[in-house]
Amino acid sequence: MSFQAPYAIMHFLVILTTHLILVATLEADIAKRKPNIVILLADDIGYGDVGCFGNTSLNTPHIDSLARDGAKLTHHLVTPLCSPSRAGLLTGRYPIRSGMVAYSIIRVVSFVSAKAGLPANETTIAELAQSMSYNTALIGKWHLGHACESEGNCSHPNGQGFNYFYGLPLTNLKDCGGKTNVFIAWDYHIYRDLFLMALLLSISIIALYRHVYIDKCSLIVCLAFTWVLIGSAYYFINSIQIMNCILMENQKVLEQPLTYDNLTQRLTNRAISFMERHQKDPFLLFMSYPQAHTELFASERFQNQSKHGRYGDAVEEMDWSIGEVLATIDRLGLRDDTFVYFTSDNGGFMEERGDDGERQGGYNGPFKGGKANTWEGGMRVPTIIRYPRVVRSNRIIPEPTHVFDVYPTIASLLEVPVPSDRVIDGKDLLPLLNEKNKTSPHDFMFHYCGGYLHGVRYIPKTGDKVYKVMMTTTKLNVNELGERGCWKTYVCQCYGSSVDHHNPPLVFDITTDLTEDNPLNPNDPEVQEIIKKSLAAIDEHRKTLTPVPNQFHPLRLIPIPWQQPCCGTFPFCSCKEDSNNNPENQIIDSLQRTPISEEIGTNS
Ligand SMILES: *[C@@H]1O[C@H](CO)[C@@H](O)[C@H](O)[C@H]1NC(C)=O
Ligand SMILES: *[C@@H]1O[C@H](CO)[C@@H](O)[C@H](O)[C@H]1NC(C)=O
Repeated sequence: MSFQAPYAIMHFLVILTTHLILVATLEADIAKRKPNIVILLADDIGYGDVGCFGNTSLNTPHIDSLARDGAKLTHHLVTPLCSPSRAGLLTGRYPIRSGMVAYSIIRVVSFVSAKAGLPANETTIAELAQSMSYNTALIGKWHLGHACESEGNCSHPNGQGFNYFYGLPLTNLKDCGGKTNVFIAWDYHIYRDLFLMALLLSISIIALYRHVYIDKCSLIVCLAFTWVLIGSAYYFINSIQIMNCILMENQKVLEQPLTYDNLTQRLTNRAISFMERHQKDPFLLFMSYPQAHTELFASERFQNQSKHGRYGDAVEEMDWSIGEVLATIDRLGLRDDTFVYFTSDNGGFMEERGDDGERQGGYNGPFKGGKANTWEGGMRVPTIIRYPRVVRSNRIIPEPTHVFDVYPTIASLLEVPVPSDRVIDGKDLLPLLNEKNKTSPHDFMFHYCGGYLHGVRYIPKTGDKVYKVMMTTTKLNVNELGERGCWKTYVCQCYGSSVDHHNPPLVFDITTDLTEDNPLNPNDPEVQEIIKKSLAAIDEHRKTLTPVPNQFHPLRLIPIPWQQPCCGTFPFCSCKEDSNNNPENQIIDSLQRTPISEEIGTNS
């Protein structure tokens, strides 16, 4: 007995210490464990296209599950066009600071081989993550440039913080479907017009010759020149697909032109293997969907399944893919440690139509306008954040937030300081997410259309009103269905005869006047005070801008032949990814791969 008692005590002590050490290491492990970051970015999906944002006929169960398990941000804004919006997301800054805004018609990177692109000296969120030893991947659409300014100064994703890239260096385009083309979308009769132009020029040249203003030799040279010029234009228009529809893995061209065969599966499989490979160490996955930008596509399984034509099929396939990504996070036991952010790069492209007149753009819910303009429909996007360690489930955050806030928010999660040598416009959303703060971190947000400042949003710290103060608005006209859009120009423009200027500016109470049809009375002293404060804020904001090279200068938008990625012999570039021999390309089945995904999705 006397011999056994100390033994029992010792035994107990040993067990206790082991237990304590175990608990301590476990906790240290959790505390040490940096969260994974998953960014799910949709393309051209409008506020009204998602189930949990009020759509009753488009099925987006997996996106909806994110909202149920996290927070829905109902006042989340972007710059209303692809390239600038993406630049804002990745740099935490207004795109004007990186020169990613245009002052003329073309406001996005136009060719894979063009010089336009996110400057290498911008520090992307992926670069911040890399500096914290994160594994980073971009899967899907890039659209922030590809060409190199000089050695080591390239816009390619691998040079902008992504260890792994699989996807489209430019964007999804109508041209990629092989049937039509951006020029035809812009001018339906472009071939006829080119031919007429050649004919007209020829007749003029012959007329000149007849009236002996030019000699026979010049006649032949001029005629030949005209037809070669028009022929080149024709060739150029027809080469867009080869030039721009490209699928790459890191620096290697896998497919040219890109095909839609199982494209969503291929992207999804790459995302899943990336997460599997890096489940032990933290990762940042930027899943940048080509959906639902035109050309609309869906794999066989999703064709004709939705109630909204090819657009609906594309959205529903994207939602399936999001489900696969979320199921993988669960299967790897990473749900609590993964910050998931879902949003769209801009509002729905309501003017977009198919060749047969079918509506091919998204729906912007209660808001006016859409992609490419600064009416609310272009800038307010469906957004969700799921991060169980911080965000309660089923939350709604109606406070104004902006896509560039994601940058400092992720930096704060990673415990890495944001660069101090430049202005970062985004604000850390963690206090809003963990409910330490109830109000938006912003007082003002500036609304740019290209490089033109159209207006400002004023968020007073007291009261629950948010005001949108617009000096410039895009002109909209009504089509035969009574919808207001830029029907004359197809894509809304930011300046000149396409806009209206307002002095005094229009002031909308955007918390109640969602369609921006009822500007407040400018003679009301309270409204005058709002205008005064807003204009002063614009002055302050302008002082923080420094001139930078304009990435969308027309000369930077033209294709540069020697910067053209090409598999095969230029200009006969052609290759197709060997789908059958690569296990990553096989069609995966949700049920086969992750038998419990559905339950996890619906029960929690
Ligand atoms: C749902 O989305 C589709 C496709 O954009 C749209 O046509 C429809 O009007 C939306 N329905 C609702 C109720 O929001
Ligand atoms: C990047 O370089 C350009 C000039 O090449 C300069 O104007 C700009 O301020 C630089 N940006 C940063 C963030 O350093």
